[in-house]
Amino acid sequence: MRIKVTQEDITKAKTPALVISLFQDTESLDEAASAIDSALDGNIRHLINDGEIKGTEGELTLIHTFNKIGPERVLVLGLGKEKDFSANVIRSGMGDACRFLRSKGVESMTTTLHGSISEDLNPKAMAQSITEGAMLGLYRFQEYFDAESNTGSIMEMSILNNRSELTETLQQGVEIGEIISKGTMLSRDLSSEPANIMTPSRMAEVAQQISDANGLEINILERSDMEELGMGALLGVAKGSYQPPKLIVLKYNGDPENPSKNLGIIGKGITFDSGGISIKGASGMERMKGDMSGGASVLGAMQAISQLRPKVNVTGIVPATENMPGGQAQRPGDIVRAMNGKTIEIINTDAEGRLVLADALVYAREKMGVDKMVDIATLTGAIKVALGSLCTGVMGNNQEFIDLFINSSEKTGEQFWQLPMHNKYAVGLKSTFANLRNTGSNGEAGSITAAKFIEAFVGNTPWIHLDIAGTARSDSDSGYLVKGYTGVPVRTLVNLAISRES
Ligand code: BES
Ligand code: ZN
Ligand code: ZN
Repeated sequence: MRIKVTQEDITKAKTPALVISLFQDTESLDEAASAIDSALDGNIRHLINDGEIKGTEGELTLIHTFNKIGPERVLVLGLGKEKDFSANVIRSGMGDACRFLRSKGVESMTTTLHGSISEDLNPKAMAQSITEGAMLGLYRFQEYFDAESNTGSIMEMSILNNRSELTETLQQGVEIGEIISKGTMLSRDLSSEPANIMTPSRMAEVAQQISDANGLEINILERSDMEELGMGALLGVAKGSYQPPKLIVLKYNGDPENPSKNLGIIGKGITFDSGGISIKGASGMERMKGDMSGGASVLGAMQAISQLRPKVNVTGIVPATENMPGGQAQRPGDIVRAMNGKTIEIINTDAEGRLVLADALVYAREKMGVDKMVDIATLTGAIKVALGSLCTGVMGNNQEFIDLFINSSEKTGEQFWQLPMHNKYAVGLKSTFANLRNTGSNGEAGSITAAKFIEAFVGNTPWIHLDIAGTARSDSDSGYLVKGYTGVPVRTLVNLAISRES
């Protein structure tokens, strides 16, 4: 979709559809809505007085104008109460509005700026939110449909602006919104690809393309490199698969004068999780193609960060492998040794995410010199029980870093909730035969015991663990999310990197 900023008389704009908006419970219409209302002989006010338009958040009212004014249709978008207004209201509203117009066959549309400008929501942020809402809300993964299944798309969107001094600022907002949306959509695409296509080798090729296009440093570690480094935990998971494992390492050097300031983002890249010898049930197993969503979010974020060019250093790491029950597969009872020398008794081969992350996090600290790190993983079914599909679970070893992270998430609308990390949650990880078991002993607090396991590999480095097993995929279209993979938490990772700018 092409997005441009234009300056035009709103009532004369020749467009198949114009989106205007209004707050709930307010008498006053904004400039754009007033102009349209007057040109339509007060019909919008009429609908408000009749109670048909209430302005509740996400409400959509389509009005055909039958050649009375320039726009062929006016779509009135409700913004909810003014006191609750935020960038996310715009993002969600634009997602719903754009999908609605697409379903009516509209291929080109125009929107006004929405709601009220404030310090937090300046014109640049508003243009960025409009762009993100439209692009992410219209996203579809159509790789495997034939041409006849294509039901039309919106090719062009204009953002109308009546103040010429704002044009450049709005264009900057659009550009940032496009970069961040494309990173998020890359992550959605990679997760949507089936596991017979999106193998560890294919993930490595995609990383190579991102690096070539954006000038990132890249290093792909092969099985033999991992053997030399002693990555027994990652290699143990890879044993049951015919596909060779890859450890993908990307580095963005935006602040070469401060090499010790280096944020690590490390994403679980299990391209298919059958469970291994502790095999999963058949029902829903197809969803395990998305068990590399954490890794996909790292690749999407690295692409966006390298295009936004903040003055920071960021290292992205994806331990990529399948978890399969082949003849060479590791067994329950096996003992493996991770890169930091700790031994792990494998109790359940389906608890593989923490194993690949263990080696990747040791590598991030010891070989890449990250000073802070975030891991992102579809790690436990238990997080979906605890938080559903709304909030990503946050755990970690450093409250200051967690607070910084949650702060950087606020403007994105991606939601997070912190879980406690009391040491007693680690008691069940004690093994009779090795340093650690890879699961707790009683199934309680599964998301936290998984995090406690990972904590044994992070040393003193400030670390955050994000469990996205509940949020990586959406079961319905809603706002800027569409049914399928969400790209969470690309936008927060990008904001976190920017927040460290020196
Ligand atoms: N990939 C799964 C977690 C998962 C579940 C992701 C549902 C997305 C949706 C993970 O590797 C796993 O199998 N975890 C086990 C851990 C258990 C064996 C301790 C789980 O959650 O059941
Ligand atoms: Zn598993
Ligand atoms: Zn898994």
